[in-house]
Amino acid sequence: MDDRLHKTYFPDDNIKNESHVRSMEQYKEMYERSISDPEGFWKDIAQQFYFKSQPQGKFLDFNFDVNNGPIYIKWMQGAVTNICFNSLDRHVQQGNGEKVAFYWEGNYPGDAGQISYAELLRKVCKFANVLKANGVKKGDRVAIYMPMIVELSVALLACARIGAMHSIVFAGFSAESLAERMQDGEVSILVTADGSWRGTKLVNLKEISDKAMEICAGKGQQITTCLVAKHLSATEETPVRNGTVVNDGGDCIDEATSEPGVRPCQHLKVNWTEGRDIWWHTAMASASEDCECEWMDVEDPLFMLYTSGSTGKPKGVLHTTGGYMLYAATTFKYVFDYQQHDIYWCTADVGWITGHTYVCYGPLLNGSTSVIFEGTPFYPDAGRLWQVVEKYKVSKFYTAPTAIRSLMKYGDSYVTKYDRSSLKVLGTVGEPINPEAWVWYHDVIGEGRCSIVDTFWQTETGGHTVTSLPGCTPMKPGSASFPFFGIKPTILDENCKPVEVGQEGYLVFSQPWPGIMRTVYGDHQRYETTYFKKFPGYYCTGDGAKLDEDGYIWVTGRIDDMVNVSGHLLSTAEIESALIEHQSVAEAAVVSHPHEIKGECTYCFITLCEGLEFTDALVSELKAAVRSKIGPFAQPDVMQNAPGLPKTRSGKIMRRVLRKIARGDKDVGDISTMADESVVELLFSLRPDC
Ligand code: WTA
Repeated sequence: MDDRLHKTYFPDDNIKNESHVRSMEQYKEMYERSISDPEGFWKDIAQQFYFKSQPQGKFLDFNFDVNNGPIYIKWMQGAVTNICFNSLDRHVQQGNGEKVAFYWEGNYPGDAGQISYAELLRKVCKFANVLKANGVKKGDRVAIYMPMIVELSVALLACARIGAMHSIVFAGFSAESLAERMQDGEVSILVTADGSWRGTKLVNLKEISDKAMEICAGKGQQITTCLVAKHLSATEETPVRNGTVVNDGGDCIDEATSEPGVRPCQHLKVNWTEGRDIWWHTAMASASEDCECEWMDVEDPLFMLYTSGSTGKPKGVLHTTGGYMLYAATTFKYVFDYQQHDIYWCTADVGWITGHTYVCYGPLLNGSTSVIFEGTPFYPDAGRLWQVVEKYKVSKFYTAPTAIRSLMKYGDSYVTKYDRSSLKVLGTVGEPINPEAWVWYHDVIGEGRCSIVDTFWQTETGGHTVTSLPGCTPMKPGSASFPFFGIKPTILDENCKPVEVGQEGYLVFSQPWPGIMRTVYGDHQRYETTYFKKFPGYYCTGDGAKLDEDGYIWVTGRIDDMVNVSGHLLSTAEIESALIEHQSVAEAAVVSHPHEIKGECTYCFITLCEGLEFTDALVSELKAAVRSKIGPFAQPDVMQNAPGLPKTRSGKIMRRVLRKIARGDKDVGDISTMADESVVELLFSLRPDC
């Protein structure tokens, strides 16, 4: 047994001595207060921010119990503020306007830029005026579909400034997914870019946007304005050397396939619809730099962000202004132990919640300097992340276990050739991290000197909920450890009883924290059913977890019909419906399957229509169907021919049996309720090699 996987690691003195929380006693004291006196705890924190008017009446008002009426959560009632003001104007007014807000590092090494707080504020004000000139008002929704460029942060902050809700759609989603989100969010304006390189793949964002707007139009929804940032220098031609044009986003797990040092061409032709499409730079040229903030009630919506739902239809998770602001800022400060001189880098895309909270709002609210990275960890080679760490002297770094696992297989030399002595805190998020990857992150990337923060949280929680803190928590590889301030976790069994130490159960939280989502856009009932119904009085995460004898929380993964592929949550129902749309497919059942790099992947059982043959060509078509319906990151890994599916007599597909078959595990458990047991043997005999 490798001892390194099971031992406890203590924070280095150098990190401990400068951190905000230096001992477990201090953590416990602060934590206890956050639970016993949440109002006092968060009221003190709120002092750091600017409020146009102060809270009045109850600082926290809520109902967490579905049996007592509708669920609601309200923090700091009566207060009025603006999160953009607190992220930018406040720092500029305090004399920090010249501090760098973002270093931008492009896909191609050497493509780089930087922007100060003052300059960012100027751009945001101008773009806010562009939005207003195009009819956007407080409460409107604005769809944003952009690559990792500074304009993405500008667009997000400009929405916040004028009180419009941003609905950012990750630029790896397909046209159909973008259209579905624009329809659900009832948007009439889309902000996008011409395109973006991801490694050697060119993602033609404008073309995908055009298609999405066409789909919306076909369903009677007009997108009246499309603002397009010119990121690639457009010409008439689209000569594509040294790269492939793809019309959907690249998988996040790109292999290093490029020719190092060869710059992909930068030209991209875009189609233009006069009257609807507007170049970003043209609109900005004439926009005023003055834009007063829209002063928002703290419970006014700030943004919505879609996350997969187990029914297949994505849910528009809605966050409000004040509570999210407190929570994003506070988690960023304590979990990364933010210090003024830090250079912070979160590799997540702004299209996911991690990018919202820990690329944009959290760092900016703290006045930090951070890196925005457009590229991939593998381009031009597997040393890219560490080259960027060396270049900017990054001190706090945040990435996903899937990236760590895939880089591990390239060996240590890609890491050790770069200077990583600036690093202090290494964060992980998105899925459980396996102890092997944890130890590599700690020993090789962090040279044994850095604290690792394993942060468990969700789109719904707004910010970290269970996590270690760099200066105090003794770290156990694979455990997210202890609750953040304000989070009261319990692990329950099916009958709502707390489980024993070592037993797995449902991870739930029993009181509201400021960053919790307030509703599902347009469907409050779905909010209550999904998160509050199963265990009245608790918010249910949908994840399994156990406690160990030292009180550490070990998150074990989703308990519902959700798959976590490379840190992206996908609903099996959504993939099934994409497969069933194919004319050859009679039925499909998708289950999660362990994957060495991605953590989990999807394994699809396909029942074809009568008389059809299960061929390689068909498998490729089915994979392509899922890519185009949802997005490339959702492409299934394994497809199996399934002339029949294991079902109960009432016709319910027995997924637990399918999971066993996918793994080749003959111990399928009790199948006495199965309508036709012979199907199990048949499916074992048809398993592909994988
Ligand atoms: C999983 C991402 C274990 C979990 C911020 C959760 C994790 C889902 C961790 C949310 C972690 C996230 N350890 N599992 N440190 N972090 N997860 O909404 O299953 O994209 O429910 O938010 O990711 O994914 P989401």
